Amino acid sequence: MVKTEPRFGEVEAYERFMGRWSRAVATPFLRWLRAAANAEWLDVGCGTGILSELVLAACVPATIVGIDATPEQVGRAANRMVDSRACFAIADAQALPFDNASFDIVAAALVLNFIPDPPRALREMRRVVRPGGMVCVFVWDFEPELSPSGPLRKALRSLGIEVLPLPGTPASPLPALAALFGQAGLESVEATTIEVAVSFANFDDFWESQTTLYSPTTKIINSLGQDERKSLYAALRTTLSEQGDGEVRYSARANAIKSTCAKSGARVSG
Ligand SMILES: C[S@@+](CC[C@H](N)C(=O)[O-])C[C@H]1O[C@@H](n2cnc3c(N)ncnc32)[C@H](O)[C@@H]1O
Repeated sequence: MVKTEPRFGEVEAYERFMGRWSRAVATPFLRWLRAAANAEWLDVGCGTGILSELVLAACVPATIVGIDATPEQVGRAANRMVDSRACFAIADAQALPFDNASFDIVAAALVLNFIPDPPRALREMRRVVRPGGMVCVFVWDFEPELSPSGPLRKALRSLGIEVLPLPGTPASPLPALAALFGQAGLESVEATTIEVAVSFANFDDFWESQTTLYSPTTKIINSLGQDERKSLYAALRTTLSEQGDGEVRYSARANAIKSTCAKSGARVSG
């Protein structure tokens, strides 16, 4: 049985495997938030800084702080962002190093499912947001295998190969996310789904991108014998038939949820 934990330290592979799809979801997600200008943002699990970069480009923030538990990701975010409004630090989402009510908007993109104790992280997000502020997250819709790795994972299963669920799968449907928000005292919840078109120049582009060392599913592929690998490649080529222009295209879906915190009332402590 091969475990499916990602290797967050491999930032280049992350960018190739997931970065572009994270960007594709974050753009409509930010439109959906309708965030006010001049807000102070916290990007929880900022990774290489994709959400922060888009917030700076589209949301006119006063400031944005990105935190992440993986030093390599924080280093990459800090190096790519030359904007005096942005700064990045290594920190755990479950113990945010900020005072109560420090931010107007606290966002986490594709992160909640990887955190060992998501309720604790949400309570922390609730603690550091100001009254009247917003806590918002999105995760891939893992249960129906609608992440960008979905076709690969389904093809492995079709060959009888065991593929463990990705971390946080049971908490990724919208009702489960809403329940988690409720437990953390996050009220006035709104939710939506965001569809993105995942596309690759051709089948080989798909294969290389989806089987980088970063990808959790690559560990499963690496454990296969040569015949099984050939069967997997063939099964995928059939499922993901190239379009007339050679492109490989399919859909992925993210579940997004936001809570506007009450302007007054008891605060939740971490
Ligand atoms: C799939 S990446 C998403 C990165 C980025 N938000 C994006 O949209 O591209 C998940 C990130 O969560 C971070 N992470 C996982 N557990 C964490 C924790 N307990 N505290 C802070 N960051 C964490 C990982 O280091 C990784 O950078």
